[in-house]
Amino acid sequence: MAKSPKSSPSATRQLKTRVKTAKRRTNSSTRWLQRQLNDPYVTRAREEGYKSRAAFKLIELNDKHNFLKPGMRVVDLGCAPGGWLQVAVPLIKSTPENPTIVGIDYLEMEPVTGAIVLQKDFNDDDAPDVLIKALDGQKANLVMSDMAAPTTGHKPTDHIRIIALVELAADFATDVLAPGGTFIAKVFQGGTEHTLLTSLKQKFTKTFHAKPPASRKDSAETYLIATGFKGELSKD
Ligand SMILES: C[S@@+](CC[C@H](N)C(=O)[O-])C[C@H]1O[C@@H](n2cnc3c(N)ncnc32)[C@H](O)[C@@H]1O
Repeated sequence: MAKSPKSSPSATRQLKTRVKTAKRRTNSSTRWLQRQLNDPYVTRAREEGYKSRAAFKLIELNDKHNFLKPGMRVVDLGCAPGGWLQVAVPLIKSTPENPTIVGIDYLEMEPVTGAIVLQKDFNDDDAPDVLIKALDGQKANLVMSDMAAPTTGHKPTDHIRIIALVELAADFATDVLAPGGTFIAKVFQGGTEHTLLTSLKQKFTKTFHAKPPASRKDSAETYLIATGFKGELSKD
């Protein structure tokens, strides 16, 4: 069980661990391992019982923008292994008896107490319906997406996939959000993050980008936050 979410970690000081290259380890996996072993957020996640270092991104975004509130109905797109669910459940006061948060991921994952988890591809045609059904057909107050399409190494293909996924998430959000609702999505700098922001401006009262400290500086990822959904009338 994770400790209750609190402010972002002050980077726990630790001695730097060096990883020797092994015969069967590629250079990039050696670099990945070294980064994991020296990452204070990975250490904090382990110490505080979070399933992922990504949990701290949501904690930091919420500390600053305060969107997770008791009683909310929430959809978490790309929820595995469950760090964001662990952060959100106590803040929205979702319980096993009355779960008000549903997560979806095509990867198998351990359950998170107080959350409904669906193992399913969000690209599936019936995914939106299945998610809405899990919330008893009621509108959501927050749709959050930490999804990242798997990369192929072919840049143009990867680019198209990333854009398609976040646009699908945005369309879903404008279908299921109640007026006043919030949409948060991981986007990548250098993609269409500004085009998407502009189109969402018509549907939400406030839209902006935010990069939490837990998001690695050398990563192009950032988060789009859109608050104050204007409701059905704002849709095309
Ligand atoms: C960065 S991880 C999410 C981490 C999560 N927020 C947490 O705190 O543990 C991104 C997730 O998106 C999922 N994902 C990517 N594309 C997806 C899709 N089309 N449908 C469902 N899940 C998807 C991946 O399987 C992966 O688990």
